[in-house]
Amino acid sequence: MEKKDLDWGNIGFTYMATDKRYVSNYKGGAWDEGCLTSDSNVVINECAGILQYCQECFEGLKAYTTEDGSIVTFRPDLNAERMMDSAEQLKMPAFPKERFLEAVDQVVKANAAWVPPFGSGATLYLRPYMFASGPVIGVKPSEEYQFRLFCTPVGPYFKGGAKPLTLCVSDFDRAAPRGTGHVKAGLNYAMSLYASVTAHSAGYDENVFVDPATRSCVEETGGANFLFVTRTGEVVTPQSSSILPSITRRSLMYVAEHYLGLKVKERPVKLSELSEFAECGLCGTAAVISPVGKIVDHGNEICFPSGMEEMGDVTRKLYDTLTGIQMGTIKAPEGWIRKIV
Ligand code: PLP
Ligand code: COI
Repeated sequence: MEKKDLDWGNIGFTYMATDKRYVSNYKGGAWDEGCLTSDSNVVINECAGILQYCQECFEGLKAYTTEDGSIVTFRPDLNAERMMDSAEQLKMPAFPKERFLEAVDQVVKANAAWVPPFGSGATLYLRPYMFASGPVIGVKPSEEYQFRLFCTPVGPYFKGGAKPLTLCVSDFDRAAPRGTGHVKAGLNYAMSLYASVTAHSAGYDENVFVDPATRSCVEETGGANFLFVTRTGEVVTPQSSSILPSITRRSLMYVAEHYLGLKVKERPVKLSELSEFAECGLCGTAAVISPVGKIVDHGNEICFPSGMEEMGDVTRKLYDTLTGIQMGTIKAPEGWIRKIV
């Protein structure tokens, strides 16, 4: 199979239509058998639930070319499970886990020419999503849904790759305490746009969202969880019921403990203790682990000792180990890697 002629080392985090995507429709209480299609357009009724009341959830995962030339995905079972949790919260029917995994395999295989080569720095981003396709005018769940899964080759999420980011503590809230912050619903991202455009216009790379109830604890950013490293080398991640349970974060905490022999702790992280940490990073499928050099809290600058030039030592080790596992240069824990080709 011949790869597409792309400048793999210089692609950004943008959408590019690839050859095939997977579609399955839910009607009359059941999912149809689903198939691959070349059509990148979605045609739905003007009154579809997604268009009126935003009944939608999605996932994000990546396919990698490993050192030996295989194509693999990283813990897709966890994406399947999280999508089922999101669907439940949004009163949508679950898309079964085995079907989700089968759709991932089919899309990756059909677009193998788009999977960036090993060592290129790029990966194939997979975007499964599900939305209300049936008409609803009163506020209620739709009776019809569509599941789709497309892919697009991507480079780093943040321009500048591994250059440390500057964040600001947002005046806006992302998720309510008993709301939808813990699921991957499109509405959470629509909510965050005003805040992210405001932060970008003020020259920041991203927002730090805090807990809306007390505004005293760190939650997450619009698209990634936080990891902090203490001055004694412990890895700390914020605990909250309104942040998305990041698969990358859960994997990095395991890597920190079992591969790097570090102490790890998930606990509430106060804004007032940020200046005590040695390193800070944002973690997610798109972000991988992106170092943070500085957080500005309304004029108060918190500069992490790792600085604005390089990743901190622990962040670097976490990054190297995780990407080594994903690219097949470091042995993965049982069940983390699903070989497709
Ligand atoms: N937090 C938010 C709000 C996200 O959108 C994402 C991206 O998926 C993450 C965290 C990271 O999650 P994961 O590591 O599962 O991609
Ligand atoms: C991901 O990391 O997969 C996400 O969905 C985050 C999004 C902001 C791109």
